[in-house]
Formats: sequence, structure tokens, C-alpha cells
Amino acid sequence: MISVRGIHKSFDEKEVLTGIDLDIPDNSTMVILGPSGQGKTVFIKTLVRLIEPDAGSISYDGEDILRMSRREWQAYQNNIAFVFQNSALFDFLDVRENLSLFLRMHKKLTPFQMYAEVSRAITFVGLGDDVLDKYPEELSGGMRKRVAIARAMIKRPKYIFYDEPTTGLDQNNAEKVSELILMLKKEIAATSIIVTHDIKLMRDVADRVALLREGNISFTGTKDEISAETLDFLYETRGEYDL
Ligand SMILES: Nc1ncnc2c1ncn2[C@@H]1O[C@H](COP(=O)(O)OP(=O)(O)OP(=O)(O)O)[C@@H](O)[C@H]1O
Ligand SMILES: [Mg+2]
Repeated sequence: MISVRGIHKSFDEKEVLTGIDLDIPDNSTMVILGPSGQGKTVFIKTLVRLIEPDAGSISYDGEDILRMSRREWQAYQNNIAFVFQNSALFDFLDVRENLSLFLRMHKKLTPFQMYAEVSRAITFVGLGDDVLDKYPEELSGGMRKRVAIARAMIKRPKYIFYDEPTTGLDQNNAEKVSELILMLKKEIAATSIIVTHDIKLMRDVADRVALLREGNISFTGTKDEISAETLDFLYETRGEYDL
């Protein structure tokens, strides 16, 4: 379980996170929903120490990661995969190398085993082996996102973080990504943490939902406990949501 307590983060004078408390149970999919500019990316990056908060604690299974040394945290990161908003593949490596990197650095596999793992991952995300020889710039946004998910899968992490996994994708690709998030959770029994403003994605994949508004969590519960009024309040709209 991940337990977040009292997380504050300011940039210059602006307080972006204003004291977040949140529990994320194991083997569940937690969707943190919020409109643009409310601190979703800052929060999810804080959860993996890509951003250091000004105050608060973040415990994974009772261990406060903010108190780990850089070296301890580096070792711990093998349990974690992060799918970035822009996919963040290495442009100068082809897809095979993007997918092999973790295995090369952290697993002692024969070339054949490595080949098989990479092939399995690319098939899992619904792409053909022909994609392995391509460079990221030769792929569509939807394909890049799938490769980013395949790269996360290869780590077999305990926790997978997704920042806006469906943003910028057409409906078809967005639905495929939702499916992959569900399949991946089954395949490796990971705990998934997703920040998004996509209500459909939330409806498709969430076990639990937290609403982020003005740097704080205004609601947590199951998706069935969210009312259209709650979303109207969050997005400052009226009656737009078909739940
Ligand atoms: N490195 C930084 N320096 C200064 N301000 C920052 C920095 N990172 C984020 N912010 C500010 O924090 C606020 C929240 O940004 P954040 O990127 O977390 O929003 P978001 O909810 O992820 O939005 P979106 O849905 O558009 O991705 C914004 O006002 C942003 O300008
Ligand atoms: Mg963001």
C-alpha cells in the first residue's frame, strides 16, 4: 500500500499541492481525476521522487521513500514503472533497444531470452514484430504509447504510474490503452496509479477514484460513489457527465 500524508509543494510563491493525504491499496487501480493545471503531473511525479515535495511523507509498504538515500531509492525503483504523458521513449534507440534497456541493465538473460521477452511484450500490446526495428519518430502517438506500456510491462513492476495515458489519442487508441491497463493489471497483478482528466478512462479502469482540485483531494471512493454533481463541481460545468 502507498500512504501519502500531508504533501505540500510550491513553485516560487505558488502552492500547487496543498497537503494531500491519500491511501492507495495494493493490487488496485487508483484513478486520480482532475481538470487541467490542478497539479496532477506534479503529484504523480512527487509519488516517484521525480519532484521532491516541501513537506509530507510517502510510504510504500510502511517505508517512507522520501527518507531513503538516493542509492536505496535507485534500487527500489526496479519495483516501479512510469508511463509518461509524452511516452518518453529514447528517440535515438529503436523500439527493440527501448524495450531491452531494463533487461540489459538489470537481468542476466541470454540474447535468446531477451529476444523472447521483447517479442512477448510487443505482442501483448497488440503490435507486430516489424515495429521493433523502427525508431520512435516513425510511430504514431498511439503506437508510441503502446511501446511505452510494453516497456513498463517488461519491468514486471509492483507499481505502475500513468500520466494522462489517453490524452492526445483518438477514441480507438484511447480504448485500446484502457484495455491494456486492465490486461496489464491482470498479467502482473500490479498496483496502477493513473492521473487523468478522462472520465471515460476512469469509468473503464478504476477500482478507486480520487478527485484532485486546486491541489488537494476533494473526494475518494469507488467510481459508483461519484455523482454527476461531484464531477460538475470538479470541472465547474453542469450536467455534462453521463455516468
Ligand atoms: N517545474 C515547475 N515550475 C513552476 N511551476 C510549475 C512546475 N511544474 C508545474 N508547475 C505549475 O504547477 C501547476 C500544476 O501543474 P501540473 O502540470 O501538475 O498540472 P496538471 O494537472 O498535470 O495539468 P494537465 O492536465 O494540463 O497535464 C501549474 O500551474 C504549473 O504551472
Ligand atoms: Mg499533467
